Amino acid sequence: MSAGEIGTTVTQHLLSQQAEHGGATGAFTRLINELILAAKIINREVNKAGLAEILGLTGNDNVQGEQVRKLDDFANDVVTRRLFHSGHICALGSEEEPVPMNVPDGYRSGNYIVLFDPLDGSSNIDANIPIGTIFSILRKRSDTPAGKYDESDILQPGYMQVAAGYFLYGSSTMMVYTTGTGVSGFTLDPSIGDFLLSHPNIKMPSPGNIFSANMGNWDYWEPATKHYLNHLRSPMGAKPAYSLRYVGSLVSDFHRTLLYGGVFLYPADSRDPKKPTGKLRLLYECAPLAFIAEQAGGVASTGRERIMDIEPEKLHQRVPLIIGSREEVTLAEQFYAGRLGEKT
Ligand code: AHG
Ligand code: MN
Ligand code: MN
Repeated sequence: MSAGEIGTTVTQHLLSQQAEHGGATGAFTRLINELILAAKIINREVNKAGLAEILGLTGNDNVQGEQVRKLDDFANDVVTRRLFHSGHICALGSEEEPVPMNVPDGYRSGNYIVLFDPLDGSSNIDANIPIGTIFSILRKRSDTPAGKYDESDILQPGYMQVAAGYFLYGSSTMMVYTTGTGVSGFTLDPSIGDFLLSHPNIKMPSPGNIFSANMGNWDYWEPATKHYLNHLRSPMGAKPAYSLRYVGSLVSDFHRTLLYGGVFLYPADSRDPKKPTGKLRLLYECAPLAFIAEQAGGVASTGRERIMDIEPEKLHQRVPLIIGSREEVTLAEQFYAGRLGEKT
């Protein structure tokens, strides 16, 4: 590519997709661009977190009962403000907010709902381990007045998503998203401050040779989970045993699975009676990543049910997540269905 050329920017990519959606008004493109601006602002703070005394705890807990870090709060504020500023939002749902947020007075409202995890993997911030932002975009479906929402607008199954994606603040800063016609990855070029298309049409290799799970939960898992993982970590004839990789930051573990293949799982465990169905949240962690996984040719399941088919009951509902290459996830479902067992 000659010096003058920089390749495709994410805005050009969005506009080309908008052109394909006849009648598109540009509202979606404007909304995504506000998310991109929020990510650039978060990225700037993440990159200097160690210096800016923004590390550490706020001293308060979120609705999940988890210690909230200053960067969680900062990211939540930035995403919330930018999205309301877009003028195309009907309501927002955030991991850091107990209930959905209405459009504040004085802001134009629109027909989009965005559910998001403003900072995923935040327990890793102090150790300089990659973290991310996850978003899920839905359309308002109730006939409530402009600027108002109904619970049914928030609690939509994953197959109703208009778009989903994440930002990964790692060795480089990336954006990965889908609108239902494949998965595209963009890398931030700090010298021009824009995301450039670096991973067009991402497809998840299948099978892979990596599994990703917190093995510290071993004694708290049901037998099917243990039998499945024992199967993966045993050499099977010509096939060598799988490798284990676990960062403890969902966006990082998922992004590696998306590019290299294999399986990530956060299954149900009995470690915390308050979280019998696992730790990850359906609406702003599992469902958006499930949309991306399926668009990349992968599968996302609870082990017993397609993630994108689950009818949500609560904003912060937790579900087991088994996500990755088609071969590994469909195999897991065999174990949970009892068709494969201990000695497989
Ligand atoms: P968040 O920082 O948004 O609360 O998410 C943390 C999640 C997810 O990033 C990761 O996969 C998981 O926590 C790790 O949990 P364990 O430490 O229990 O393995
Ligand atoms: Mn998270
Ligand atoms: Mn989070």
